[in-house]
Amino acid sequence: MSEVVRIFDTTLRDGEQAPGVSLTPDQKLELAIQLDSLGVDVIEAGFPIASEGEREAFRLIMGAGLKAEVCALARADKRDIDAAMSVEPNSIHTFFSTSDVHIRNVLNTNREEALERIVEAISYVKDHGFVCEFSPMDATRTDLEYLKAVCKAAEEAGADRIDIPDTVGIMTPRKMYELISEVKKVVRIPISVHCHNDFGLAVANTLAGVEAGAEQAHVTVNGIGERAGNAALEEVVMALNLLYGKKTRIDTSKIYATSQIVRRLTGIHLQPHKPIVGDNAFAHESGIHVKGVVVDPRAFEPFKPELVGRVRKIVAGKHAGRHGVKTILEESGLKPSESQLAEILRRVKELGDKGKTVTDTDVLAIARSVIEMPPAEEKTIDLKELVVVTGTGVMPTSSVKLVVRGREYTSAETGVGPVDASLKAIQRITQSLAKISLREFRIEAVTGGSDAVAEVIVKVDDERGNLVSARGAREDIVMASVEAMINAINKLLAKRA
Ligand code: KIV
Ligand code: ZN
Repeated sequence: MSEVVRIFDTTLRDGEQAPGVSLTPDQKLELAIQLDSLGVDVIEAGFPIASEGEREAFRLIMGAGLKAEVCALARADKRDIDAAMSVEPNSIHTFFSTSDVHIRNVLNTNREEALERIVEAISYVKDHGFVCEFSPMDATRTDLEYLKAVCKAAEEAGADRIDIPDTVGIMTPRKMYELISEVKKVVRIPISVHCHNDFGLAVANTLAGVEAGAEQAHVTVNGIGERAGNAALEEVVMALNLLYGKKTRIDTSKIYATSQIVRRLTGIHLQPHKPIVGDNAFAHESGIHVKGVVVDPRAFEPFKPELVGRVRKIVAGKHAGRHGVKTILEESGLKPSESQLAEILRRVKELGDKGKTVTDTDVLAIARSVIEMPPAEEKTIDLKELVVVTGTGVMPTSSVKLVVRGREYTSAETGVGPVDASLKAIQRITQSLAKISLREFRIEAVTGGSDAVAEVIVKVDDERGNLVSARGAREDIVMASVEAMINAINKLLAKRA
């Protein structure tokens, strides 16, 4: 097993072949620069015969003075190779199918002619002084003896590296290990593995190939590529480093930033549970896990998120525990009392039970309103019931029942909308306690979305010039407004007292 595994990145070629992805030359340059600083050994930057844009991208990338080897793809065909040579890459990756299904049915030829084409193409690349990597396409469905003969012939023709592509992703780790071991018996030049993810085994097959002695892994950032994609760079590199004790030249702290750039440029979003770079890869919600990682991150994390340029995320939700919510609040400088924390947790779980994803912003909004709430013993008024009627052809009306110093009072008011009507109804009931006026009303849908937790901030004053502000946070805007108003009145009354 080789010590430093070379990383051949094909995000700009096989990755760009993912359905719906098409990058401009400038975007390709931006990504090539990032891949270079990430530390990949080879950047397969495209397929020059394909378009003028591809050739322009090569010109930009070749002019950028990158450290990485920049490679151009070409079929084993003079026209393709000429196009590849015209962009003056550091290396040319040429390929020709070797499985019978491709040779006979797709290319209408036979094994002997295929072998001649391969030798001719490699010699042509080498005669022009380029580094040459050769891929027998569909190698994993190629007759083994024929594949070995092709690889031997490729080496003799001057190829510098041979890549074994699992073009339709049908290998298993054990089969890949055996295949690479067989190929290594007949060639001395370095071997690459290029695995597709049709059965979700691309990374496992790549690692098995490396275990069998492959010196180089073909990968793409975020695993993007044809159909189900290619082996993901981030998964292969981290597994090599941490599970196989292998080095690469990748600066792992730049993995997440690179993944984000690929997301942005390709528009391909990742499943949240995607290893290493998915949104949830270092997020913890359940009380047991959060308690564990707060005490010792190793309890529920395979490695520190910082290693790949990320930070741990504590998420609230119905599985949240005190530790998780407390950590989120403390990170924002909020220090609730034990009873406030219990109330915040109760509300967070209530939202989670309704199927809502509770974001940090939601938790903070809830926490701010709970923390600002006067303690039960200082509350003069409390909400008992609220009924609103609104819609077309009716006057928005609100009927509010409040408990004021232990006694119930009801009032109904109309307004321009249900919020206005409700606040007026509250003011009507409390007017005997103080002459309260609403000075400011602000509403913030903190997480976007119609079921977002809305945070309402009100400022009220009284006839003596006392001024207080308070908050309410609920998914229901009317409830959030009523909560804010009741909190404000309680604060004001406490101040007067
Ligand atoms: O998957 C494949 O076979 C390829 C070749 C061009 C190597 O991408
Ligand atoms: Zn491929």
